[in-house]
Amino acid sequence: MNYCVVGLQWGDEGKGKVVDVLAEHSDIVVRYSGGSNAGHTVVVGETKFALHLLPSGSVRPNVSCVITNAVVVDPDVLIKEIETLAQKGITLKDRLLISENAHVVLDYHKREDQLREESLGKKKLGTTIRGIGPCYADKAGRSHAIRMGDLRNLEEIKAKLQTIVEYKNKVFAAVYNTEPISADRIYEKCKSYADQFLTFTTDTTEFLHRSIADGKSILFEGAQGTLLDLDHGTFPYVTSSNSSSLGMPAGCGVPAKMVDKFIGVAKAYTTRVGAGPFPTEQDNEIGQYIRDKGNEYGTTTGRPRRCGWFDAVAVSYSAKIGAIDEIALMHLDTLAGLKEVKICKAYRIKEDRGQKTEDRGQKTENRRETRPAEASRGRTTWFPANTAKLSQASPIYETLPGWDDDITEVNDFHKLPSNAQNYIHRIEEITGKKIAIIGVGPKRSQTIFRAEGRRQKTEDRRQK
Ligand code: GDP
Ligand code: IMO
Ligand code: MG
Repeated sequence: MNYCVVGLQWGDEGKGKVVDVLAEHSDIVVRYSGGSNAGHTVVVGETKFALHLLPSGSVRPNVSCVITNAVVVDPDVLIKEIETLAQKGITLKDRLLISENAHVVLDYHKREDQLREESLGKKKLGTTIRGIGPCYADKAGRSHAIRMGDLRNLEEIKAKLQTIVEYKNKVFAAVYNTEPISADRIYEKCKSYADQFLTFTTDTTEFLHRSIADGKSILFEGAQGTLLDLDHGTFPYVTSSNSSSLGMPAGCGVPAKMVDKFIGVAKAYTTRVGAGPFPTEQDNEIGQYIRDKGNEYGTTTGRPRRCGWFDAVAVSYSAKIGAIDEIALMHLDTLAGLKEVKICKAYRIKEDRGQKTEDRGQKTENRRETRPAEASRGRTTWFPANTAKLSQASPIYETLPGWDDDITEVNDFHKLPSNAQNYIHRIEEITGKKIAIIGVGPKRSQTIFRAEGRRQKTEDRRQK
């Protein structure tokens, strides 16, 4: 079986944990998009790993790890990550492959990211300052791009860097009035990257197709979340890649139809780091309760995450565009102790003059769901991936009774408090998707599987 795990919200849904759990039965784990803006947490026993570029399967010694074409690789971060794993007794030797076509994040990308954010003041996007946007911009612009495979020809890189850095320095001086950066210093770093990474650098697309032909089980690991997708998210408050599952085939050269199951990961509530509209945000004591109980602070930047109620409009949209088969709902334990819990099942959006929110360009399915009287009042169940409209959206909630019991040791769905079961059922009904995995804590063991079929298949394979 080949699986793809992808975030359905604004990132940090718990993808790292889900990938780690599923990787037990995988031969290969693949990171196909984003860069070190990602922070995927894996907890093994008492040890916590925060992975930015290495696939989360890397903590399992028998799994091959692949970083494919559409990932932007910051070699400094990767070196640190490999060292951290080595200190914990985990080696990547002979099991890491990096695409020769993956683009390299260099110091001037990080500098540009920071300078641009600072210059925007209150209008900043709230990026991770990891150089992601500038590196993807150079990729799209082509002439200033450097790819992992280019490290094979240092003479060419040296000349290219002179041109690129000269250009960047002109921009830095003219627009931001800052000191120049040294092309020689970046070249020296590239030399050291070549020493450290060329043995890992290869044609990963060929490797993946060969592995599929050999019957290997592959797990594709998404980064960020669908609502941060450059083309389908809440632009401009998004990342610079296709972070929905639509980015998977383009990101690694394996067609989506080779994936048996797309698993969408969502939290039992919603979080967001950085700026941008967030209809169900609770900037109040409820949000603080969730932040404290769920330890909602960024894995990459340490920033407090904005917290709010579960948004079924957003998750349904992500599930639809991502052809999601099943949902993994994480952090159910975090909601314990709340008197009531809310699910946003529709938005009311003020109509712009001359534009009817519900019935212009709306999908037929949603037209059926929304009665005309409601439509005229701006009610919609379709997520508008348009910042102006989304900023106008007020959530329409369904309120359910909460539960007090600590559920962190529960490993059977039927042993969950009935109100928690009811909450899961309602999310399934509203989104129309099965919740196959439930997270009740950060550890591997704190996972409830509801898809018996999957476990049975695994048992069968083990016996073979
Ligand atoms: P990712 O970016 O999607 O991999 O998610 P992050 O690692 O950035 O953030 C998820 C956080 O929640 C991490 O600290 C995980 O260890 C933790 N986590 C994952 N699943 C659960 C869960 O079901 N319950 C609790 N309490 N924590 C979880
Ligand atoms: P994982 O994989 C949460 C957000 C940033 C910012 C916006 C643009 O851990 O879920 P960027 O640095 O990409 O240009 O920032 O995207 N962002 C994330 N938010 N989780 C992530 O990754 C994110 N990666 C980027 O906070 O709002
Ligand atoms: Mg994260």
